[in-house]
Amino acid sequence: MENNDLSKRGAWGSKVAFVFAAAGSAIGLGNIWRFPMVVGQNGGALFVLVYILAVALIGFSVMLAELVIGRYSQRNPAGAFEFIKPGSLWKLIGYFGILTAVCILSYYAVIAGWSAGYLMKTASGSFKTSLTSELSDKIFTEFSADPLQAILFFLVMIGITTLIVSKGIKGGIERWTKILMPILFILIIYLAVRALMLPGAKEGISFYLKPDFSQLSGKLILFALGQAFFSLSLGMGIMVTYGSYISKSDNLVTSAGWVCFFDSLIAFFAGIIIFPTLFAIPGIAPAAGPGLVFKVLPLIFSKIPGGILFGTLFFSLFSIAALTSTISLLEVPVAYFVDERSWSRKKAAILVGLFIFCLGIPSALSSGGMAFFTKIDFMGKMDFIFLSLFLPIGALLICVFLGYVWGVKNAAQEILSGNPRFKLGPLWSFSVKFLSPIAILIILYFIKTIAE
Ligand code: TRP
Repeated sequence: MENNDLSKRGAWGSKVAFVFAAAGSAIGLGNIWRFPMVVGQNGGALFVLVYILAVALIGFSVMLAELVIGRYSQRNPAGAFEFIKPGSLWKLIGYFGILTAVCILSYYAVIAGWSAGYLMKTASGSFKTSLTSELSDKIFTEFSADPLQAILFFLVMIGITTLIVSKGIKGGIERWTKILMPILFILIIYLAVRALMLPGAKEGISFYLKPDFSQLSGKLILFALGQAFFSLSLGMGIMVTYGSYISKSDNLVTSAGWVCFFDSLIAFFAGIIIFPTLFAIPGIAPAAGPGLVFKVLPLIFSKIPGGILFGTLFFSLFSIAALTSTISLLEVPVAYFVDERSWSRKKAAILVGLFIFCLGIPSALSSGGMAFFTKIDFMGKMDFIFLSLFLPIGALLICVFLGYVWGVKNAAQEILSGNPRFKLGPLWSFSVKFLSPIAILIILYFIKTIAE
């Protein structure tokens, strides 16, 4: 197989464009909704510390592994593994990734729809100063249980995603992320400052930043690792696809480093927004779980001066972050159909988008919209199978493929093309061959405990 024609596939306009788009993929519900949630459930600051270590030691290595596979092969995940090891079963990693992306997107976009719904609610002043925690809880429960609203907002998010992806890497993803990412940064910093100014913010900050080492446990480490994979968009070949659009002269190591840095920075700031606010309003536990953002934040917004603006800004940010992630998820199957099946980008985006919409309907109906799907917790099952199980397996397979099949030496050769002095080589090799696979195997071994 010869290399694809780059000009036909589209490519990033610059290294900065790549970093923005990849950071856009990484920054999403994982940072703003899930990160504070797991920090709260795992006792605070120590989790933050372990998370940072997990990103630096393992997340970064797996990201570099995915990027180098993508750039070397100039292909989507399915084509990439076939290109490097023709005729082998390794190409199944690519299909595995495509399947995971499609299934994760199907419920991820439902949650993205909730954030769009909450943006509307907040902007239209649904959350009055008189809002109580019971009422806020009720509003969320009713909202997520309303089949019409759940499906409508889900459709909106899938529709926008399909539209952007159908316009292609240059015209679509790149242009949008260039506009969206800076807005996101400004909003987050603004909100973090506002949160720090709340009375009672101090207690939240010490919960968030003063580690209590007695909290250290295996579960905490496992949670931190799992969160790192999810948050960095690893394990399903998203970064293989994104890497395939990187120019040969760009430095992959610093690109990966920037993406990890920005992703962690946003998660960190999300915590700065959420914990001071949580502690400033009595009666809200840090371990409030998945409902945290949707149930608790409107309550807080309703109590502070300029709350409607504060809240509207937050949920816009949340929706934007979710959208850049859904774009990256849809890009995986679309790139496959464009490259391997010679479909037009438009046809691929529309057909796959439609398919994902149908696949996501049970998830949209599983929070009370329909008794059957609610009872079996369809969305929870999807999340467990594809996020908790498939993502780590995907990352493990990628490490094994790179470390033992393709070979770290060959991969390093590709890295050298944009970075002639690849100083991290030995460390990276150790992480890809030993540290990361072993850590992932441990996650998988304990997956039952994690699920509880
Ligand atoms: N990383 C995104 C977030 O933090 C979610 C996401 C997008 C993702 N694409 C992914 C997770 C690919 C795993 C794999 O919200």
